[in-house]
Amino acid sequence: MQNIIITGGAGFIGSHVVRLFVNKYPQYNIYNVDKLTYAGNLANLKDIEDKPNYHFIKADICDFETMLDIMQRDQIDGIIHLAAESHVDRSIKDPFTFAQTNVMGTLSLLQAAKAYWESLPEKYEGKRFYHISTDEVYGALQMTHPEGIVPPFTTKASSGKHHLAYGEKFFTEDLKYQPHSPYSAAKASSDHFVRAFHDTFGMPTIVTNCSNNYGPYQFPEKLIPLFINNIRHRKPLPVYGKGENVRDWLYVEDHARAIDTIFHNGKIAETYNIGGFNEWKNIDIIKVLINTVDRLLGRPEGADMDLITYITDRAGHDLRYAIDSTKLQKELGWEPSLQFEEGIEKTVKWYLDNQEWLDNVTSGDYQKYYDNMYKNR
Ligand code: NAD
Ligand code: TYD
Repeated sequence: MQNIIITGGAGFIGSHVVRLFVNKYPQYNIYNVDKLTYAGNLANLKDIEDKPNYHFIKADICDFETMLDIMQRDQIDGIIHLAAESHVDRSIKDPFTFAQTNVMGTLSLLQAAKAYWESLPEKYEGKRFYHISTDEVYGALQMTHPEGIVPPFTTKASSGKHHLAYGEKFFTEDLKYQPHSPYSAAKASSDHFVRAFHDTFGMPTIVTNCSNNYGPYQFPEKLIPLFINNIRHRKPLPVYGKGENVRDWLYVEDHARAIDTIFHNGKIAETYNIGGFNEWKNIDIIKVLINTVDRLLGRPEGADMDLITYITDRAGHDLRYAIDSTKLQKELGWEPSLQFEEGIEKTVKWYLDNQEWLDNVTSGDYQKYYDNMYKNR
């Protein structure tokens, strides 16, 4: 495979995937197709933007004609599709944008890939459409053990001080989809379209469903970067409900490595769950963040606990997510490389060292800069 589109490459996870592919595969041309919404920031890719195998194309995945033009002009063999609206709270306020980008955008990309690949003599031979989805499509798991139990599996991610699962059931690949938020409903719908293009037209597709990611370059509307920034500036930490909801956290570079493994070695038409068996209650993670920020800033550890502010719960707030990634570990040999404690330390340090990046995205300056750059072309 030579020419690969990565959609959403200017976003959080996409930028890590683009960086990994550009550096690891100099023989591939990587086309980052991104609309640069509020979540897209080319500053995330400063270190690789001048590499000869990296190409940026500002475009909306909903624009079928442009997607088809790119595929024909650049003779695209593979697509790794991450572009999406990704924040649950925004989806509650504005579900239309989520249906438009996540459902119609995915469909437009599928139709463009189909039109281009079916026009070639070799058709789908050697081609791949890899769709990145979320564990949130499975709905919410019960919390049968609120105090925590020893999980059935451990991985490097879960092998630090924290070893607990909060229920016996996990998300497995064969579970029925039961999305609750407009975000997860739109992602679920896009997953169905991707599988339908395999079943109906024979397109070589793969879908993966990953748990919550954390790490550098995440937009500070999501829990971890938002709270690190607030703790630093001693602003209140808005905890939804009682802070008892459970999420399963994976370091973003481990997700990018899983995407690399699956893109190259995954079986066509399969689904793989990606996660590190690393469940945390929100309130416990928030306490770790406070202690870590305080320590790294030279404040007494725990000095900022009084910033915790319980607020009205998120509407339809899913109680627990927990991924079973046994299939991916057994069949393709992937596992997380980082312990959670190491990953959190790296992440907090990164945000504290990159205040300018945070200030730019919170003020919106990064968008003005790139808007001007495109106007001048
Ligand atoms: P993000 O919001 O940080 O980035 C999304 C990117 O997509 C941005 O660069 C944005 O400009 C681009 N984009 C949005 N609409 C577009 C459009 N119409 N055309 C072209 N580009 C567009 O998202 P993220 O957190 O990096 O998530 C990436 C993907 O991974 C999403 O599909 C998401 O559902 C999935 N995912 C995320 C997580 C997580 O914890 N963040 C976990 C599992 C799966
Ligand atoms: P988030 O980072 O938005 O990811 P997701 O909703 O996709 O899991 O939120 C992670 C958890 O943190 C989720 O249970 C909601 C909670 N949360 C808060 O309590 N306060 C906040 O300000 C945010 C953004 C999230």
